[in-house]
Amino acid sequence: MGDLAFPWKPNTEEIYVIGTGFKADKREGSVLRFTPILPCVGLTMETDHPYQKPEPLMRYLIARTEGPVIDPFMGSGTTGVACANLGRSFIGIEIERKYFDIACERIDQAQRQGRMFA
Ligand SMILES: C[S@@+](CC[C@H](N)C(=O)[O-])C[C@H]1O[C@@H](n2cnc3c(N)ncnc32)[C@H](O)[C@@H]1O
Repeated sequence: MGDLAFPWKPNTEEIYVIGTGFKADKREGSVLRFTPILPCVGLTMETDHPYQKPEPLMRYLIARTEGPVIDPFMGSGTTGVACANLGRSFIGIEIERKYFDIACERIDQAQRQGRMFA
């Protein structure tokens, strides 16, 4: 998934899901394909963070886990938004105040919207 440096670098990114209870979907390979959040030529990049993950990707991964979710490098909080949409507990850690504030706002908004997915 993803695209860290459009258009010059490979369009894949490693993601580590650490914990117990991860249920991989055996019908799929280890490479998951999701529409990346891309800056388009002539358009402003509409993301809150330079390495922001697509929320559906985080939701896909989280839905295959159990228990509370911790993202120690929360960035702009996409993992927290996915947790809110799934009704899951979330702890986020972010060193940059700017991104921490954006994450709080995004997660708060998602929580106010309520659980969107079973
Ligand atoms: C790759 S970005 C995370 C992107 C995020 N998962 C998203 O989708 O929006 C990594 C983040 O880790 C933060 N970070 C780096 N070192 C950190 C540390 N020691 N403690 C907490 N956050 C840290 C950076 O400020 C950066 O926002």
